[in-house]
Amino acid sequence: SAGDLVLSIESSCDETAMAVIDSHGEICANVVATSIDFHARFGGVVPEIASRKHVEAIVGVFEEVMAQAGRHFGCDTLTPADLSCVGVTAGPGLVGALVVGVAFAKGLCAATGLPLTAVNHLEGHLLANLFETPDLKPPFVASLVSGGNTMLVHVRDWGDYQVLGATIDDAVGEAFDKVAKALGLGYPGGPVISKLAAKGKKKAIHFPRAMMHSHDYRFSLSGLKTAVITYIEGENKAGRPINLPDLAASFEAAVIDVQVSKAIAAVDETGVSDFCVGGGVAANPQLRAEYRKKFGRRGVRVTVPPMVVCGDNGAMIAVAALRNYRAGKFADLSLDANPNAKL
Ligand code: KG4
Repeated sequence: SAGDLVLSIESSCDETAMAVIDSHGEICANVVATSIDFHARFGGVVPEIASRKHVEAIVGVFEEVMAQAGRHFGCDTLTPADLSCVGVTAGPGLVGALVVGVAFAKGLCAATGLPLTAVNHLEGHLLANLFETPDLKPPFVASLVSGGNTMLVHVRDWGDYQVLGATIDDAVGEAFDKVAKALGLGYPGGPVISKLAAKGKKKAIHFPRAMMHSHDYRFSLSGLKTAVITYIEGENKAGRPINLPDLAASFEAAVIDVQVSKAIAAVDETGVSDFCVGGGVAANPQLRAEYRKKFGRRGVRVTVPPMVVCGDNGAMIAVAALRNYRAGKFADLSLDANPNAKL
């Protein structure tokens, strides 16, 4: 039997997402509405637009996820009485975006008496790896790379996370987004830059590998971003056409070299035999391939989440919520969003 059903709600950035999973962690329904098109012309997510789009979308997403889960079980729709628990992302993220999901979850729980549990968005990205490797067990090292975060984490046990180091300025996804913006390629930058990079030469232009040899797990991306933008301006001023694939490949290689070298150091130092990746940038094909190649040689198993659960989604939040539910970790109706929540 499917056992307990958990509904999750995610609204930390520009996706309004919900999912229903069963007690085996199987996805019964997964719905993502994104306001990405409304941010594209600004070259990044505009917080107030994101908040208002969540308000517009959230009831429709709820109706859709309940209907989709209903069809999964051969009926028209689920009702709240079919659920065992509601999990919601409480942070980190944009505060005005988070509060929409948190308020909706609290209203649902107040009206139905369902228990509420709070989920950390970063833990969700981490647990998305379980959709690829269900037997993944700590200890392992994880890289969390998204538009807002870049960190290496030693997962000593579930819930026992040691952040080994993080970016001191921009996140990796943010660097992709800012380079794309400088080239007039819209938002988000990651998918378009990585598509261009696949056709370019990564040694065409030399860009700095900041903190590559800093002997710690901190990252710095803002210098690289500035170097790329300076290069673009220089070529424009000189009237030379820019070879976009070469530029994209050279930028991407600079990012990946540092990510991979620090990840290897972290795996060596902790002595683990599993490595995984989470967050929107985990969708980058070249990054996935480099990790597989470099760790494969060392006998370290690499897990990356299936493409559909790399970006923000409800399914990964539901996995975390199911764990909280089993552990009896509930929140009361005074729950507030925590935009700076730590992993
Ligand atoms: O996890 P996510 O959906 O949202 C948060 O930031 O929480 O990640 C979005 C980020 C964006 O910065 C986007 O440019 C980046 O992930 N991204 C990529 C790729 N696909 C998405 N970065 C590099 N290569 C990609 N293929």
